[in-house]
Amino acid sequence: MTETKPNYDDAIVKKFIFATVLWGAVGMLVGVIIALQLAWWPANLGLQWTSFGRLRPLHTNAVIFAFTGNALFAGIYYSMQRLMKTRLFNDTLSNLHFWGWQLIIVSAAVSLPLGLTEGKEYAELIWPIDIAIALVWVVFAINFFGTVAIRKVAHLYVSIWFYMSMVITITILHVTNSLTMPASLTKSYSIYPGITDALVQWWYGHNAVGFLLTTPILGLMYYFLPRASGKPVYSYRLSIIHFWALVFLYIWAGPHHLLYSALPDWAQTLGMVFSVMLIAPSWGGMLNGLLTLRGAWDRVRTDAMLKFFVVGITFYGMSTFEGPMMSIRAVNSLSHYTDWTIGHVHSGALGWVGMVTFGMLYYMTPRVWSRKLHSDGLATAHFWLATVGIVLYVVSMWVSGVTQGLMWRSITADGLLEYPNFVDTVTRLVPFYWIRLFGGLCYLTGVILMAYNFIKTASGPQVDAASLETAHV
Ligand code: HEM
Ligand code: HEM
Repeated sequence: MTETKPNYDDAIVKKFIFATVLWGAVGMLVGVIIALQLAWWPANLGLQWTSFGRLRPLHTNAVIFAFTGNALFAGIYYSMQRLMKTRLFNDTLSNLHFWGWQLIIVSAAVSLPLGLTEGKEYAELIWPIDIAIALVWVVFAINFFGTVAIRKVAHLYVSIWFYMSMVITITILHVTNSLTMPASLTKSYSIYPGITDALVQWWYGHNAVGFLLTTPILGLMYYFLPRASGKPVYSYRLSIIHFWALVFLYIWAGPHHLLYSALPDWAQTLGMVFSVMLIAPSWGGMLNGLLTLRGAWDRVRTDAMLKFFVVGITFYGMSTFEGPMMSIRAVNSLSHYTDWTIGHVHSGALGWVGMVTFGMLYYMTPRVWSRKLHSDGLATAHFWLATVGIVLYVVSMWVSGVTQGLMWRSITADGLLEYPNFVDTVTRLVPFYWIRLFGGLCYLTGVILMAYNFIKTASGPQVDAASLETAHV
């Protein structure tokens, strides 16, 4: 698996890696701060700009669009050049893409604490920033499809299909959900009325998860896992079936966010049925990933990079089993509005998105800087901190969520609510919030170790690129 480098643009990959690590640390630090606020309210400092309601969207936007977004761009630009044996289409477009995206992130970091929001989850940013997102995304799309057009390899490897689905679907989702009537520079009204607005929002929200946090990461898995393990994909045919089944089913499942709402019953049932069917392609993909490691399992014991991939793919399996279960009305009546959802979110986000991203970063960083990773020990420490952190976060939220749901529905013999005061449940949950905070701190500490490791790596002595092919973390 030796790679020759026919003038690839790795400078842009380096920039996106740098931004991923930086914004990852910032976004997770904000996550830790809001986790602290839920355990100990005085941490909101009594200021409107640092209150939970302002910092929560800052956290979600930072980890989804800044951390995951930059990671996707780094991995896509790195892998597509190698898969197509060509440099990216246009260097100016690559740089416009990078700087434009960072500018959007900075405007989000300023506008959200100021309370400027459209009030739609994961689509909070005000309309001028929405337009900037659309423009930068078009720059990315031209650069992406331009590179596909000038490729030197006729076959489009499965990863490229996963990336393509992201580029196309996110364009449609973002534009459709952001259609608003501006009332001033910072205020606008959605063009959709009532429940239609909710449906469009959750069609967007669910597919933002699908086409930012799932599909492109799967594309990256199909490229980086065979590279990192030195083993070909277990079944290429399965990867193609996986792709088509996943993108076809995902797009219909959004109404599972609106169960028991004013949405017509048939639409809720449709969302539920498609969500349950999603187990099949999701688990097909998970098994394809894990089975790719056949014959390489001995290396998982010593190689931190592979450990990240294995745990990441395993969490993909767990969250894509849990999600369909939560889509079933009877289960959702317990889980909805509770911390169970938060546990589910973070088993996907910290477990799947985070761990695969870290594995990918540990693969790319030594290669784009042509240097040996500074410390394998630190990478292993990062892995264990992250894994322990996820388990503490997810398990505490499961217990907290089920406790919360059961307390809300608990009825006395006289048919009255057993816990009529909301605060009764809140006080019961506080210990779990401290455990979640500790888990988040472990996870964040791992990211800081990784940042230190990468800074030392980039400033270390240069090595021959070929020697990195056999060197594993
Ligand atoms: C150190 C790591 C992290 C910590 C401590 C943390 C903490 C939190 C907290 C406290 C909340 C609010 C929960 C609530 O409202 O009850 C939250 C929400 C959320 N976080 Fe994180 N988070 C972390 C990392 C991440 C990452 C890496 C991602 C995505 C890649 C992510 C995605 C989300 C999302 C999507 C929500 C909103 C969930 C919902 O509305 O159901 N988080 N996080
Ligand atoms: C087969 C796959 C999946 C299905 C069917 C599914 C289903 C669900 C369901 C039913 C909910 C709760 C909706 C509610 O009660 O409001 C939910 C919430 C959520 N899921 Fe999943 N899930 C899947 C996989 C994933 C993965 C892999 C991730 C992350 C990478 C993820 C991220 C989220 C997020 C962020 C939310 C919270 C949305 C909100 O803000 O309310 N899901 N999912």
